[in-house]
Amino acid sequence: MSSINRQVLTLDEFTIQQLRNFPKATGELSSLLRDIGLAAKRINVEVNKAGLVDILGDHGSVNVQGEEVKKLDVFANNQMMGVLRHGISCAGIGSEEMDDIVVFDDEVSNQSKYVVLFDPLDGSGNIDVNVSIGTIFSVYRRVSELGKPCKKEDFLQPGIRQIAAGYVIYGSSTMLVYATRRGVNGFTLDPSIGEFCLSHPDIKTPEFGKIYSVNHGNFFQYEEGVRKYINLCQQKNKENGGPYTQRYIGSMVSDVHRNLIKGGIFMYPGMKEKPKGKLRLLYECNPFAFILEVAGGKATDGQQRVLDIEPTDLHERSPFFVGSRGMMEELEACMKS
Ligand code: AHG
Repeated sequence: MSSINRQVLTLDEFTIQQLRNFPKATGELSSLLRDIGLAAKRINVEVNKAGLVDILGDHGSVNVQGEEVKKLDVFANNQMMGVLRHGISCAGIGSEEMDDIVVFDDEVSNQSKYVVLFDPLDGSGNIDVNVSIGTIFSVYRRVSELGKPCKKEDFLQPGIRQIAAGYVIYGSSTMLVYATRRGVNGFTLDPSIGEFCLSHPDIKTPEFGKIYSVNHGNFFQYEEGVRKYINLCQQKNKENGGPYTQRYIGSMVSDVHRNLIKGGIFMYPGMKEKPKGKLRLLYECNPFAFILEVAGGKATDGQQRVLDIEPTDLHERSPFFVGSRGMMEELEACMKS
């Protein structure tokens, strides 16, 4: 039987310890992260059972309690929304799964200073083939008046105003990684105690990496600068910092997590038929841009820093390039030339 290592901080202990350095902090962000951690554990349980769906009941069928079995992304959405609604730190949410924001509008929530945007289950197209998927979240301080219901303007803020951003990866182990301006920290779920434990303190992404991640199938849809860079990646050899390796899972949380730890670049460029690409600015690009920048990397839409984009629509898309600083600079040089 494995013993519990008391030297390892849990997510709660870590966020409480962070508070000690800030006597004026209210603890709202810690409680919000605790709520998200709880949702993540519940989603994790269901994701782990995904392969059993055929024997336990298919989507849309009725389970033993007489309830309809929900699609996993709907389940994840409800869990995230539920914990944040019942918590005391969130005035409202925006979700990739929902057309509009949800304003909690009760006495406690209206006093909360934060709003949260999330993609409850990114990469859900991969569930059926047992590939790692994830939850992505982003926290903003509201700009509307405290004491009143939050408003859409609280959600349509540029990414640079994020207070925290993070993701949960349901992989060979389940991890929660989150960033504040002070650093990026990763916590691995210890199933024996049901707690996220600090396993990757103060993550910094390598200045250079050797992994490039892009959907090669769309190569001829990309603009010339991007194609030039992909060609450069293929031509790298021992003499000029290579060889590079192409890795693309098609589940952004997994692709960017691997590149964050090992060093690399992830690209989802605009295409001839979809000039803004596929990824959503508020739910996918901004949180990862924030995390990678805090970890020492860089993120752009090919023209400008992602975190500076002023959003106008909750579901707008953006081309996205993110990763190790050195590789991002190589890409920028190709796109300028
Ligand atoms: P979805 O949640 O619909 O499965 O989309 C996943 C996203 C993102 O996680 C991934 O990087 C990208 O879509 C992959 O898209 P392509 O298949 O077009 O490369």
